[in-house]
Amino acid sequence: MTESASQAPPGPASLGAAGPAHRQAVDPVGVWRRFVGSSVLLDGFHALKHAVRFGAEVPLAVTVDRAAALALADELAPDVRETLDALLTQVTESTYTSLVPRPHPTAVAALAVRPSREVNLRTLARTPRSAPVVVLDQPRNLGNAGAVIRLAAGFGATGVVTTGTLDPWHPTVVRGGAGLHFATAVERLAVDELPPGPVFALDPEGEDIRGLKLPDDALLAFGSERSGLSADLRARADHLVALPMRPQVSSYNLATSVAMALYHWSATGGAPIKD
Ligand SMILES: C[S@@+](CC[C@H](N)C(=O)[O-])C[C@H]1O[C@@H](n2cnc3c(N)ncnc32)[C@H](O)[C@@H]1O
Repeated sequence: MTESASQAPPGPASLGAAGPAHRQAVDPVGVWRRFVGSSVLLDGFHALKHAVRFGAEVPLAVTVDRAAALALADELAPDVRETLDALLTQVTESTYTSLVPRPHPTAVAALAVRPSREVNLRTLARTPRSAPVVVLDQPRNLGNAGAVIRLAAGFGATGVVTTGTLDPWHPTVVRGGAGLHFATAVERLAVDELPPGPVFALDPEGEDIRGLKLPDDALLAFGSERSGLSADLRARADHLVALPMRPQVSSYNLATSVAMALYHWSATGGAPIKD
């Protein structure tokens, strides 16, 4: 198949406001270049699959091999196969590599519209809450942030809030999150803007988590990889909570700490993980 459209294209002007454009772009390179600066890059088949599954608006998706991408959909994502079939435009390998910073083994890439910050803030602030919000206090490592967003999506957490300078929508974080930014509310806020709810801050000096039940409306806060919890976050914390750890070990990795805390919440009666 060539890069020309086989079906009626969306005019580029319509893409910003459109729902998922289940059509193939007439000029994928032009459309890509026009929208890449204001969109979220979905890097690879799995990121596109997750984003579509969780309702992302995807104006454009490209692949070097439509047949291979649709075979993956048949195997791994029959629920979104029809959508992907309508969405994927085939491009040459050289075009694909010119569009993405780093080619993905599946040779699939797409652009998605970032969810509205206002909607995410409403989701984060809404009470009563059926699942915690994860707070990463001044995280530094983009891969950790992506892994945490993936965990939050998997456990059905209400959202992930970061404080500090790291952008939780940075392309490397989105890559680490495997497209699951669309399955939970992800925003950056200052400590004094955090959503309501009791703050359970994770710290090796805290009370042993094994004797606690973490409430569904909790904010589960974790410190930075380098320096732990900030003074501002400590001041906002209602409880300090420790994960079991031998005395000679100083700390766990940030993302694994989030995994243990979310697992503890779910294993001690937290709301069920949604389908
Ligand atoms: C890599 S650790 C931070 C290490 C840092 N050097 C420090 O001084 O705390 C990142 C975060 O993971 C969480 N964490 C790691 N190990 C933990 C433990 N044993 N108990 C509770 N939280 C832990 C804390 O929230 C911590 O701030």
